Amino acid sequence: MFHRFGVWTTVGILAVVMARGAAFGQSEGAESADDSGAPLRALAEARGLHVGAAVHPATMDDEGLALLAKQFNQVTPENHMKWSFLERRRGSHDWTVADRIVDFAEKNGMRVKGHALIWHGSVPDWFHKIPDEERWRAASEHITAVMTRYKGRVHSWDVVNEALDDDGRRIRDTVFSEGGRADYIARAFRLARELDPEAKLIYNDYGCEGLGKKSNLQYELMADLLKAKVPIDEVGLQMHILGPEGIPNPADVAANARRLTRLGLSVNISEMDVALAAFPGGTMEEKLRRQAELYQEILAACVGIEGFSGVTFWGYTDRNTWVNGLNARKGLHEPEAPLLFDRSLKPKLAFFGVQRVLSKTP
Ligand code: XIL
Repeated sequence: MFHRFGVWTTVGILAVVMARGAAFGQSEGAESADDSGAPLRALAEARGLHVGAAVHPATMDDEGLALLAKQFNQVTPENHMKWSFLERRRGSHDWTVADRIVDFAEKNGMRVKGHALIWHGSVPDWFHKIPDEERWRAASEHITAVMTRYKGRVHSWDVVNEALDDDGRRIRDTVFSEGGRADYIARAFRLARELDPEAKLIYNDYGCEGLGKKSNLQYELMADLLKAKVPIDEVGLQMHILGPEGIPNPADVAANARRLTRLGLSVNISEMDVALAAFPGGTMEEKLRRQAELYQEILAACVGIEGFSGVTFWGYTDRNTWVNGLNARKGLHEPEAPLLFDRSLKPKLAFFGVQRVLSKTP
């Protein structure tokens, strides 16, 4: 399963770009993105890893795209490959933003991770209205339309997203599972493999980062599916850290990733962000420092694991983060700052923390 690692060709540049800004503590207002030291992508490529960001039209202006192309070697559409975005009306697709992202990635030597083919959180309204017995046909038509369009251009796919219930005891009851039946998972992966045999196929979920009930269930599900010869290549650990209770123990994350690799799967961190709300009390400066340390500790626990393929951050600038949307629903309107670059695209301590981890000799 590890045959797709290490294929980037720009490894050589690492030797000359040792991370100038790798130490914490640089936050002068005059600092520009050019003072940021070695680009993350060069450091990641030297280790055969991907470093990606979720992208959204709101942050795809010229300045943002230049920063993305400089720092990252992979992009993931935050929303625009989701079913509800692509096929608002049955049979009529809007590929505009997805195409733009794929074109951008290709022009800049970046990979695309597609997200997410089957997710109960992004089905179009019309899907809820069709009879149960038509659902799989509609879902398979959707998978077929998307994977055929991007065949050979999307390197990996989140094929099934968030199929496990939060209680960690069962498959989530959704429009796809019809009372908790898991067959749709196997069917989706088999179809995806048929449609694009070269694409890496990923199971992605949250709350399964460290060790615990839900991650045990994820592990068992993966083991069972592999035993049944279902073509799964990789597991994505989302890693949204939104509050103090959501901070996983880095050693547990590593142990969890290791046991998954022993099944023959690779593992990635797929949607990482670390909200400042995870560090109640203290000054803003302290929060930003602790945020950087946590990014660093979690990634340091993972990057050395054979079979760890890389990390995707759920956005790149604090100008646009889904956490603000989550908070607004709870009546909280203070802007969050969970990502690597601030609202003016200046690298934060978190950026330098990640850079430091990736700079260490493997
Ligand atoms: C989120 C996006 O960031 C938001 O813009 C959107 O409104 C809802 O979805 N897990 C996932 C992602 O797999 O697709 C979610 O993305 C965040 C949680």
